[in-house]
Amino acid sequence: MAQPFATINSAQALVFRGALLCWFQKHQRTLPWRGESDPYRILVSEIMLQQTRVAVVEERYKKFIAQFPTVERLARAREQTVLAAWSGLGYYRRARNLHAAAKQVAGGNGFPCTAQALQELPGIGRYTANAVASIAFGEQVPVVDGNVKRVLQRFSGRELGKEQYWQAAGMLLAPESPGDFNQAMMELGAVICVPGNPLCTVCPVVDLCVSRGAHAQAERAARKKAVIEYSLCLKNRSVLLQRRPQNSSLMPGMWELPPCKGKGKTVQPLMRLKHSITTTDYSVLVFAGNGRNKGQWVPLKNTERFALTGLTLKILRKLKGAAS
Ligand code: ADE
Repeated sequence: MAQPFATINSAQALVFRGALLCWFQKHQRTLPWRGESDPYRILVSEIMLQQTRVAVVEERYKKFIAQFPTVERLARAREQTVLAAWSGLGYYRRARNLHAAAKQVAGGNGFPCTAQALQELPGIGRYTANAVASIAFGEQVPVVDGNVKRVLQRFSGRELGKEQYWQAAGMLLAPESPGDFNQAMMELGAVICVPGNPLCTVCPVVDLCVSRGAHAQAERAARKKAVIEYSLCLKNRSVLLQRRPQNSSLMPGMWELPPCKGKGKTVQPLMRLKHSITTTDYSVLVFAGNGRNKGQWVPLKNTERFALTGLTLKILRKLKGAAS
């Protein structure tokens, strides 16, 4: 396999580590999971941070940990309670897997403490296992996520193969503080080496970087547009909710307003909103329903006990805001 860093020698790698760690000590964001050593809490933060923005995760992490402060408490909870606590974070498979992992840990011989053993838990792949093992247990294993990939790509001045990213991150890793180093790489990608226009003038490793601001364009993924329509049926301060099929590929078993189709062509909606997930921007139209849909009537004051889809949570919050 071609060496990813033909241009960096071990002395330069030493400089890179020093500069990055020093920058991280001074400039890292204050986040609720920073400085944490409990592997369960680190695992929760890492799972939440996959595909969800830090600003959203911050509040939700604190709430989740207040509700399930230990792996045993999470293991004892009912799945619907865990999904309700996850509501709005999306990618609910993460919550189901986290719950299953907690049950496995609580029913076994304690928290697995190596990256290899962590990968035996449901939903834990190489990234999550290495993040937890390095941050909680100081194991010398690298992490590669989207941010780290971008840093390495710009730093080396070229696209690398999948395995080369891991190899490159492993070569740069600081052996004496792998957890801080890994978090520093992710932080650099999140706040300095950002997509679009990187902030090279304040980058701690700019002198070693091949790109230095070049290759910054054309990274925006093409976004799709779609329309979703729902019926809002209200009666005596209760709302009609439907459960998505258990075999649905998207958000199985979660609760939402009854969907409808094609009403937007003839009827004015009660509410319009925008909702974006991954690469799609949805225009959401909510129409007055006639209450003849299938489903369960739920008092408005109790809806947040249900495992609602993020979009339904947003619609109901808007509705309650408008009514108060
Ligand atoms: N992204 C995911 N996990 C992170 C962490 N621990 N620090 C910074 N960014 C992250």
